[in-house]
Amino acid sequence: APAPLIDPFGRAVSYVRVSVTDRCDFRCVYCMAEHMTFLPRKDLLTLEELDRLCTAFIARGTKKLRITGGEPLVRHDLMKLFRALSRHLVSGKLEELTLTTNGSQLARFASQLVDCGVERINVSLDTLDPDRFRALTRTGDHARVLAGIDAALKAGLKVKLNAVALKGVNEDEFVPLVRFAHERGMDMTFIEVMPLGEIDGPARVDQYLPMTQVRDRLSEALTLTEIDYRTGGPARYMRAEETGGRVGFITPLTHNFCESCNRVRVTCTGTLYMCLGQEDAADLRAPLRDSGDDALLHAAIEAAILRKPKGHDFVIDRATQIPAVSRHMSTTGG
Ligand code: GTP
Ligand code: 5AD
Ligand code: SF4
Repeated sequence: APAPLIDPFGRAVSYVRVSVTDRCDFRCVYCMAEHMTFLPRKDLLTLEELDRLCTAFIARGTKKLRITGGEPLVRHDLMKLFRALSRHLVSGKLEELTLTTNGSQLARFASQLVDCGVERINVSLDTLDPDRFRALTRTGDHARVLAGIDAALKAGLKVKLNAVALKGVNEDEFVPLVRFAHERGMDMTFIEVMPLGEIDGPARVDQYLPMTQVRDRLSEALTLTEIDYRTGGPARYMRAEETGGRVGFITPLTHNFCESCNRVRVTCTGTLYMCLGQEDAADLRAPLRDSGDDALLHAAIEAAILRKPKGHDFVIDRATQIPAVSRHMSTTGG
């Protein structure tokens, strides 16, 4: 069997996040500018190419595949890709096939995802207030997202909610978000805002809230205790005694988790990023298109993994205000 992918720091790459579109039906203020120029469709990998690419990674030891965007569910015929990829779950080579979504299309797709072997999904929800939601997402419909979450739960999916912790925006909702999630049997995770891409909203430094402060807020109403629970992702989890549910913290700035990084990302044009917080990348689209044989593709992947950096160097810096990387989160799907 082909060798697994090990980077120069001895980390095995077993988790690939694949963005299937840079488009999104929302324009979250911390993620995108109000007016975005999206890629021409001809630049996108086709669903067949995406399947070939994922299959190549699975052959090299990828156990977990997360489909991301933009908003993945706005990609035309995405269920075809899920259906195709589900064969790797059936064969046992792939352990988890999942996605991260804004929830807007979930009512339509939840049961089809279950049919494709998806068990757990992550849904972004930063606020429980419809007006705030509209201000934050600019174009999002809160009721539709809530209906999507309900549909996912009804279809039997395990759901984790993600909220970006935003100073002065959703600070007062951390406890209500936890209660909302736990009442429905969902995990709730908070994320520190990262300096990715130019946005025309508030300065990142004014949005940024360190996770220690999120925890302080939560502790006003909830008793959090350490637990030993890992999903293979960067979140550290605690249990809220009052609800019995789990609260996760993703802390790229205050406590980076790069030393145990197990992942790489591929954009919808087939660009492989070895780190969310670095510019270095490798083109996989040319080797995909230049040959029907996967040898070139495997060689390109191997060469790229040997360049995986030790970690990101995010800083939230009032002096410069320059994002650490110029691409938006919607390019790499988080
Ligand atoms: P699980 O596999 O369920 O633990 O998922 P996850 O938390 O890795 O995935 P999700 O898509 O929910 O990610 C939530 C957010 O965590 C992402 O959008 C990023 O903001 C952040 N994140 C995920 N992986 C990394 C990483 O490797 N580095 C950094 N800095 N942030 C990450
Ligand atoms: N910093 C932190 N999280 C972000 N997300 C989007 N942009 C940023 C950013 N700059 C989050 C979304 C979603 C996940 C994919 O990434 O809210 O939960
Ligand atoms: Fe879309 Fe997600 Fe970015 Fe919001 S954070 S604009 S939902 S890709």
